[in-house]
Amino acid sequence: MKLNSGTIKEAPVKKRISVGDFQISVEERAAINEVLDAGRISEWKKVREFERLFADYVNTKHCVAVNSGTSALIIGLSALINESRFPKVRKGSKVITTPLTYIATINAIVLTGLEPVFVDINPYDFSILPQKIEEHLESANDPKKYSIILPVHLMGYPCDMDEINRIAEKYDLVVLEDSAQAHGSLYKGEKTGSLSFLSVFSFYIAHNIQAGEMGAVATDDANLISLMRKLKANGRMCDCSVCTRPNGYCPYFPGYEDDDLDPRFVHDVIGYNFKIMEFEAALGVSQLKKADFILEKRQNNVRFLNEHLDKYSDDLQLPAFSKDISYLAYPIVIKEHSKFTRKYLREELEKNGVESRPLFGCVPTQQPAYNYLKEEYEGKIPNAEYAGKKAFYIGCHQYLEREDLDYAVKAFDQILAK
Ligand SMILES: Cc1ncc(COP(=O)(O)O)c(C=O)c1O
Repeated sequence: MKLNSGTIKEAPVKKRISVGDFQISVEERAAINEVLDAGRISEWKKVREFERLFADYVNTKHCVAVNSGTSALIIGLSALINESRFPKVRKGSKVITTPLTYIATINAIVLTGLEPVFVDINPYDFSILPQKIEEHLESANDPKKYSIILPVHLMGYPCDMDEINRIAEKYDLVVLEDSAQAHGSLYKGEKTGSLSFLSVFSFYIAHNIQAGEMGAVATDDANLISLMRKLKANGRMCDCSVCTRPNGYCPYFPGYEDDDLDPRFVHDVIGYNFKIMEFEAALGVSQLKKADFILEKRQNNVRFLNEHLDKYSDDLQLPAFSKDISYLAYPIVIKEHSKFTRKYLREELEKNGVESRPLFGCVPTQQPAYNYLKEEYEGKIPNAEYAGKKAFYIGCHQYLEREDLDYAVKAFDQILAK
């Protein structure tokens, strides 16, 4: 079947509407220069500054920064496994989570020796359905094997955290929010990432607060933070990244000067190297200062696109708009009866200079790495399977101006006009 195609005739210069962008402004350049001038590029004071500012931003007491959102998930889960306070969180225990997420969420669960268990999502905002979590736990043969609920605020849409926390309390489970895609989203007036025991964020270049690569775990729990500081640095006893050891020994470990032990090289847990460079933290600090502007600009862009693409609502499910959402991108789901396939639509958008991405895929049934789960889940999580095949997203980022949005709308007009 040949569907309507072609390039936009009104636009003389072919312009690319990117999914994301990062423009180095005066502030970012100054932030990088500040690190160079400070004379130390490995993890140091900027990292701590970012951690303090980000904890304030999320409204948690603490935050530990690591080299990626994936590392944040791994270190958060590893800390729970290592902690005696959570006896149920042990290797082999089960984590209830969403099937529709970027693969890192599930990889981290599996790589830390936990078992992911999937329940279906809300087809309109992609959030895990609390009712499905509860039904699953009610009918589970082995409810004691469940240890964690891991909701993901996909595309910036907050999950129903009140319900998730209620279920967690009922079944004695820890809640870890994956807030990698939701910097500044609000749930009932509270920031995502502050609504559970611990939460993770990613500052990868495609996210709203960008640092190139970087992640963080936020929590109110000082003990967990201390453990994660060790875990991110090969399990070393000292959990401080800023000490300059003026007298040759760590002032927080008095007595070590007598024993000739350097706590940087004494390791009391088995950890990773997830430390970061000062550059990333400096970019994070600079971006945080613009967080409100970024969020508002993205919201305005989503509102504009919604207004102008609404005429295609027979074919396309457009993103629900709310002033509470910090939009990672502009997600679109192709409706069931539409004659347009995702492949066709994305190819045509691309030809017209509008970049897009598929909405990640349903991990247990559509991601080859998890083929071993396919038989178990096929047909059981229909909303996630549908979104995995029919949903995609385009950019709504802060660098898109009115003329760019007009251009994107014209591309849709060109492709979808019957
Ligand atoms: C939901 C979600 N979780 C985790 C991650 C992992 O973050 P990173 O790419 O920084 O490792 C991402 C990254 O996009 C994500 O979208």
